[in-house]
Amino acid sequence: MTSSDQPAVTRAGRDGPRLLAVSDLHVGFPANRAIAERLEPTSAADWLIVAGDVGERAADVESVLGRLSERFAKIVWVPGNHELWTHSRDPLRLRGEERYRHLVEVCRRLGVVTPEDPYPIWTGADGPVVIAPLFVLYDYSFRPAGVASTADGVSHARGAGVVSTDERWLYPDPFPSREAWCEHRLALTEARLAELPSELPTVLVNHFPLIREPTAVLRYPVFAQWCGTVRTADWPTRFRARAVVYGHLHIPRTTWHDGVRHEEVSLGYPREWQRRAAAPVIPRQILPAPPTSAGRP
Ligand SMILES: [Fe+2]
Ligand SMILES: [Fe+2]
Repeated sequence: MTSSDQPAVTRAGRDGPRLLAVSDLHVGFPANRAIAERLEPTSAADWLIVAGDVGERAADVESVLGRLSERFAKIVWVPGNHELWTHSRDPLRLRGEERYRHLVEVCRRLGVVTPEDPYPIWTGADGPVVIAPLFVLYDYSFRPAGVASTADGVSHARGAGVVSTDERWLYPDPFPSREAWCEHRLALTEARLAELPSELPTVLVNHFPLIREPTAVLRYPVFAQWCGTVRTADWPTRFRARAVVYGHLHIPRTTWHDGVRHEEVSLGYPREWQRRAAAPVIPRQILPAPPTSAGRP
């Protein structure tokens, strides 16, 4: 058995409650489901951010979040694109906004915090910090240089044989397009963030990166069109982010941009994490800031 067969569930850390994060559990894969089942806090007061792509089936999302909410003091969830799919194999046939609202109601029954709820305040070490779960989707503006429109960008991607499965399963109903849904989400989310007390720092949580830079290492850069929006580029600095937590890229790592720590916290597909030399470290510690990241840059 290689080291990559068994993910190292984070156990080390300072005493006291921690804010932890994971994304892209994709529990439709049995190996990933087993990992999700083993996620446990080290303190009953630990919080866990689940930054989207728990799975495609609503029943799976509910069962995993329900189990985690029994173990952690608080679960904060944002939807990934996979939760928003209306896949042919899911008996839940709701689309788009209705599907999202259904998942929000499921979370509320479980006591899980969603982007529709008041933002909780972390008062543990390195607090107080506003934990802001966001749902802003994407609008194809991470287009290749020289490509002027969404239609041209998508057709460019089709030509390269790289098109997101969202084009098949992620319906924007009742909005006319995913860009329009994104526009709607941007407006209401930006207004909420602007109302936060200016003395409070934040942890911004979104399934997709809030800035474009992390997509530069994608194997197929043209795929970045399904990975975010240029409209959130200044949010980390403007809204005083102590850290930005995201997933979706399945490239777990820590990077720094404009003095802000960006944490990609995904597990990813078994075929991805099993071939890496090192086992995935999940969940990742966000607060207190791990010693390796304190004081950076
Ligand atoms: Fe994912
Ligand atoms: Fe995703």
